[in-house]
Amino acid sequence: MGSRFTPLLFLLFMISIPFSSSSKSDNINNKNNNYKLSLDYYKRTCPDFDRIVREQIQDKQSKQPTTAAGTVRLLLHDCMVSGCDGSILIASNSFNKAERDADINLSLPGDAFDVVTRIKTILELSCPGVVSCSDILAEATRDLIVMQGGPFYTVPLGRKDGLVSKAETVEGNLPRSNMSMDQMLKIFEVKGFSAREMVALMGAHTIGFAHCTEFKDRIYRYGKKTPTDPEINPKYAEALKSLCAKDTNGTMSAFNDVLTPNKFDNMYFKNLPRGLAALASDHMLIKDPRTKGFAEWFAANQTAFFEEFGRGMQKLGALNVKTGNDGEVRRRCDTFNDVQN
Ligand code: HEM
Repeated sequence: MGSRFTPLLFLLFMISIPFSSSSKSDNINNKNNNYKLSLDYYKRTCPDFDRIVREQIQDKQSKQPTTAAGTVRLLLHDCMVSGCDGSILIASNSFNKAERDADINLSLPGDAFDVVTRIKTILELSCPGVVSCSDILAEATRDLIVMQGGPFYTVPLGRKDGLVSKAETVEGNLPRSNMSMDQMLKIFEVKGFSAREMVALMGAHTIGFAHCTEFKDRIYRYGKKTPTDPEINPKYAEALKSLCAKDTNGTMSAFNDVLTPNKFDNMYFKNLPRGLAALASDHMLIKDPRTKGFAEWFAANQTAFFEEFGRGMQKLGALNVKTGNDGEVRRRCDTFNDVQN
């Protein structure tokens, strides 16, 4: 299998990333109150919403190509912790360590936060105090996925921004690359996702990066006899080693999909049986009987992957949303309106 991929392995990228419309059936009911998300939520109050988001993400992504993947991950990390309420966007202050400063969120790229801030700034000029940061994040994520070649899915709107953001609530709600399949499935199951939906959503790893720290053990400390996981394609393992050997300040990253890293397609699933996944959690998808069949299905059928992914993203984007009087529309995405919060 090695020689076929040799030229393509040059695509292994070394990068230093600074840490840092509508039908009624698309409406989504919020369990907590009687308000619904709806596709035409800003039709009268902010008619340029769609256009402004689209223009801003296009400008940002063309200048900073890491934006799309970072924003998708930002939405995941927002929605899995206390629902899609923009709590990930809140900056810490001397009284409060916010979600974004939890250890697992430190690798979220600044460009993802920045695209939301830019959109909010423009929207506040055009329709002040109307559009929530959580709606901006959900819509921008969808548009960035489409811009990278991924599926279009509708994004019902009307989320309110949350009033709480605490770093200590993050742990246990987000998946980690060193988790067992049982743990990964559990994390998603408690949020209402099946194994099939989890596999489809993990297809988001068709774009973006993983830092060396996330897969170093697989290439250097796998076992006493074999320091490198023998299931990694040997040439790919060598390329990862040479990348991470230079990782003295912990900022080096490898593409999650080494063959078509900037294209939202089903190559991520095709890579798995070839040993071309850096993260152990990704490779596990074709080893575990609960996920293998889905990963193979998506590898063989991009249309099926896109349909399942789009549905999964709609479900993710509606997790525990706050609507009506529950929450607020923030004036700035990184600060609660009442700074005492
Ligand atoms: C068991 C499930 C998952 C695990 C263990 C996992 C783990 C990870 C890890 C370790 C990274 C690298 C972060 C870094 O080093 O900067 C990453 C990146 C990423 N993840 Fe996941 N993830 C999972 C599921 C998901 C899901 C469901 C989505 C989206 C719906 C997603 C979207 C992304 C994206 C887009 C990136 C690239 C981020 C960037 O380039 O800045 N992941 N993931």
